[in-house]
Amino acid sequence: MGPPGRQLLYNRRVDRPKVLVTRAIPEEAFALLEKHFKLERYDKHAAMPRALLLRRIRDKDGLLCILTDKVDVELLEAAPRLKAVATYSVGFDHVDVKACALRRVVVSNTPGVLTETTADFTWALLLAASRRVVEGDAFMRAGRYKGWDPMMFLGGDVHGKTLGIVGFGRIGQAVARRAQGFGMKVLYYDRQRLFTELESQFGARYCELDELLRGSDFVTLHCVLDASTFHLIDARAFALMRRSACLVNAARGPIVDEKALVAALRAGRIRGAGLDVYELEPKTAAGLSRLRNVVLAPHLASASLETRTKMGLMAAQGLVDALVRRKAPEHAVDRELCRELFPAA
Ligand code: DGY
Repeated sequence: MGPPGRQLLYNRRVDRPKVLVTRAIPEEAFALLEKHFKLERYDKHAAMPRALLLRRIRDKDGLLCILTDKVDVELLEAAPRLKAVATYSVGFDHVDVKACALRRVVVSNTPGVLTETTADFTWALLLAASRRVVEGDAFMRAGRYKGWDPMMFLGGDVHGKTLGIVGFGRIGQAVARRAQGFGMKVLYYDRQRLFTELESQFGARYCELDELLRGSDFVTLHCVLDASTFHLIDARAFALMRRSACLVNAARGPIVDEKALVAALRAGRIRGAGLDVYELEPKTAAGLSRLRNVVLAPHLASASLETRTKMGLMAAQGLVDALVRRKAPEHAVDRELCRELFPAA
């Protein structure tokens, strides 16, 4: 047996809560986790196989997961010790929050830190789709550019047009702020209407979804995915949209009926689309990637080094709060459960 000091350190180590991290994330987040937990890392740039996840979660107190790891009843049943789940994402549609609450498992996410980065990327998609940036890039790389042509790759203007924002939370509002710089008219639709002072701050007018679809040159999606928004944008919605309109989706794939989108793009029912997310991600609907009037990104909207680092630290802090400090994580999803679990905090 070593000197008493070392023994104490050893004991503290073995008593540390055990946490599983399902994916490689920025090292700063691991550094914070390593200070507090006995860590098990699935350090790959690929999804942790489900069977392995179900095995490894068995003795864990905490889980740091990403948006492709389903936290459902099956996982919870495989994890009798689990007390906290931190998802490295703002969206938590992959987490069964009710089932977690029933088992007294605290769930936290990463809102706020990715708002501006996601809004920037929304504009990258919107501009690229409308001004045909990706087609032009492919044309150049193929060595096909033989000189300036007045009729080459004519896109549609963005400035001065009408932007329809579906889902007017943090990200939708950040997108609206940027629209002011383009001198655009902004319509928005959400379950809840904002106070008029806020609406005028964003220069945005509330309207019902159908009016927004009919009246917008660009429709951008920023709502959460749940039963009420699944296939919100379907064949009926495309039929309402302007033929000159572009759709942008940097929220969640299943909000759009992707087969109907392919049909609409093929038929010229709408002019174009910019997509960061897919209905059956990472797969794309048949024919989508062959269409030239769509810009496709691999779920990159929050992918700046700064933001992904902040997301990692926030997710890690959620676990430290719930498992070590025994207090509600600042970004707990279920505040009511936290009030029950941490009454003094
Ligand atoms: C999220 O956080 O929900 C995004 O989809 C990835 O950053």
